[in-house]
Amino acid sequence: MILSKFITIDPAQNSNQDNYKLLIGSIVPRPIAFVSTLSKDGVPNLAPFSFFTGVCSNPPTILFCPMLRGSDGQKKDTLVNIEETGEFVVNVVDEEIVGKMNLTASEFSSDVDEFVEAGLTPIPAKVVKPPLVLESPLSMECKLQQVLYVGEGDVGSGSVVLGTVVRFHVRRDLYDAGRIDITHLKPVARLAGSAYCPVRETFDLQRPGTIQR
Ligand SMILES: Cc1cc2nc3c(=O)[nH]c(=O)nc-3n(C[C@H](O)[C@H](O)[C@H](O)COP(=O)(O)O)c2cc1C
Repeated sequence: MILSKFITIDPAQNSNQDNYKLLIGSIVPRPIAFVSTLSKDGVPNLAPFSFFTGVCSNPPTILFCPMLRGSDGQKKDTLVNIEETGEFVVNVVDEEIVGKMNLTASEFSSDVDEFVEAGLTPIPAKVVKPPLVLESPLSMECKLQQVLYVGEGDVGSGSVVLGTVVRFHVRRDLYDAGRIDITHLKPVARLAGSAYCPVRETFDLQRPGTIQR
C-alpha cells in the first residue's frame, strides 16, 4: 500500500497540544510579526506571532493569529488592545533583536510596559498611536481591518487579525528602488519548539512563461 509511506493522523482523535505540535512542525519556517500595541490606558505592549503572513497588496494587508492563552483561555493582551484601539504595528525580527523579542513572549500582566522589559526603544509612528521598535529593521503601521474568531472559545481557539498597512518604515540600507535587500535584512524565522533559523543562503528560480498544451 502506497499510503504505508505515511503515518496518517486524524486530528479529531488528537489532543489540542498534539495538533499544535503538528501544525508548528509542519508550517516551517514561519516569519515573525513582532507586534506593538497600546492598551486603552496607554500601556505599550510587545509580543511575537509567527502565525503571520501577507494577504494582498491592494490594499496592502497582513494577518497574524493570536490564539487564546494556553494558561487560562483568556485573550492575549495584543488582541485585547487591538480590539479596543483598532491599531497596531508589525515590526520585523532580525538576528540582532531576536533575543529581546523572545523576552516579550513571557506572560506579563497588562500593566507592564514590554519595551522596558525587553530593553527596546519605542519611537512614535506617523499615523497610528502604538510605537515602532527603533531597533527593528522594518516596521509596518497597521489599522485594524477585521478580526475573525476561530474555534469554540476554549484553549486552542484562535483569531485572525487582518490589518491594512498605512505606512512602511524601511531602514535606509535595506531599501533599493522599492525593493528590500534580504541579505542586509537578516530576518529570523521560527521553527518548532524553541528553534529558529536565519536566512543565510538563497537561490533563484526563473519562472516558466505561460504554458499552452
Ligand atoms: C517566536 C514566537 C512566535 C509566537 N507566535 C504566536 C502565534 O502565532 N500565536 C500566538 O497566539 N502566540 C504566539 N506566541 C506566543 C505569544 O507571543 C505569547 O503568548 C505572548 O505572551 C503574548 O503576549 P501578549 O499577551 O502581550 O499579547 C509566539 C511566541 C514566540 C516566542
